[in-house]
Amino acid sequence: MEKFKIEGGKRLEGTVRVSGAKNAALPAMAAALLTSEPVHLRNIPRVRDIVTMGKLLAHMEASVEMSPATPDEVTIRAEKLSDAEAPYELVKTMRASVLTLGPLVARTGYARVSLPGGCAIGARPIDLHIHALEKLGAEISTEHGYVEARSKRLRGAQLCFEKITVTGTENAMMAAALAEGETLIENAAREPEISDLAEMLNAMGARVEGAGTSTVRIRGVEKLHGATHTVIPDRIEAGTLLVAGAITGGELLLTHCEPKHLTAVIDKLAQAGIVIRAEGNGLRVHNGGPLTAVDVTTEEYPGFATDMQAQYMALMTQAEGTSAITETIFENRFLHAQEMVRMGAQITVEGRRAVVRGPARLSGAHVQASDLRASASLVLAALVAQGETIIERVYHLDRGYERLEEKLGAVGAKIERVR
Ligand code: UD1
Repeated sequence: MEKFKIEGGKRLEGTVRVSGAKNAALPAMAAALLTSEPVHLRNIPRVRDIVTMGKLLAHMEASVEMSPATPDEVTIRAEKLSDAEAPYELVKTMRASVLTLGPLVARTGYARVSLPGGCAIGARPIDLHIHALEKLGAEISTEHGYVEARSKRLRGAQLCFEKITVTGTENAMMAAALAEGETLIENAAREPEISDLAEMLNAMGARVEGAGTSTVRIRGVEKLHGATHTVIPDRIEAGTLLVAGAITGGELLLTHCEPKHLTAVIDKLAQAGIVIRAEGNGLRVHNGGPLTAVDVTTEEYPGFATDMQAQYMALMTQAEGTSAITETIFENRFLHAQEMVRMGAQITVEGRRAVVRGPARLSGAHVQASDLRASASLVLAALVAQGETIIERVYHLDRGYERLEEKLGAVGAKIERVR
């Protein structure tokens, strides 16, 4: 199993290019199942989740072209779909496999997708996805750990999500795109990845309005066609890199990012004393002096993303004062805290709240990554720790960060992937 070896205490300086958003690329790939024509996607990050989604589509007998010559492009042709199943082996490594459920049942009338089960950061059920598809007229049964959906043609319906769900909204949008009549999704997620999916569906001939607000209207069409779509920049990778620049007292210019998707993160970092300014299609960050402790509560977009909570905690270990970090989206998303404590951080966790006392002198240690964003937070803590940190299980990080060690290494971090 691969590990990272990081020698802390190096100031980061230079320019880093932000990759395309994993969480926009995954639904875009699933949406390619909605048409028999080729779909060409650009700005796709070459991360493990994308490879897993590629395998999943190939398992369904779609052709998936990922060429080493153009690593950020993928072409998918789902001409015939002979096996409309997402098997356990693939779903267990990537919950977002559930994104194939809506497109498959809408296009072929049948889908069989393994239930994702628990994951490190909480139970994460898919009841809301199932309920939405039922409302659209699919007959659903769950047996032997699989959810099976059947339908002749889905019918548009009024949906109101009981709780805001990102992939649930995406599944419903994709299914409704080919349904008969109009669908209204209320209490829809408002994440930029939802708007990006709507843009792609519309380029394929769908009629989606209101994405990015809590009411999305979809007028179903009979057929969708091929399209070319460029996915949005990864706002979580960008946020992680902003923290990397600030925590090391360095100065970084992030290029190819979308500052308006990062408003909540930039506001918090600015309150903590970090100087960030827009520059072209990028952001320049530098640490303006001592960091101040600032509380944060995770929320759905446009609030502070749960996917930035762990990285923010790493930053707060270096801030003067006490900060409370409240996690409202997932019930068990503080696994990184205990590893940071092993590095010398002062953090206490009580239920959904973590209290961080800083600044703490972190020292390098042997630590273990438990999930994607937790891994990133340990890299950040290691960048500022004295001495050497070994991070085990970086396969979690590889799910969602493209060549992070190369990107950080190029701006001055001493970081190495070792076996
Ligand atoms: C997506 C993101 C993930 C991010 C999360 C929250 C992708 C591929 N992943 O995950 O990076 O952390 O949004 O911003 O885009 N829930 C239910 N029943 C359901 C669905 C969700 O109870 O059927 C709950 C979840 O357990 C969680 C909350 O709703 O507590 C929000 O989850 P959701 O928005 O669905 O997360 P994902 O779409 O899986």
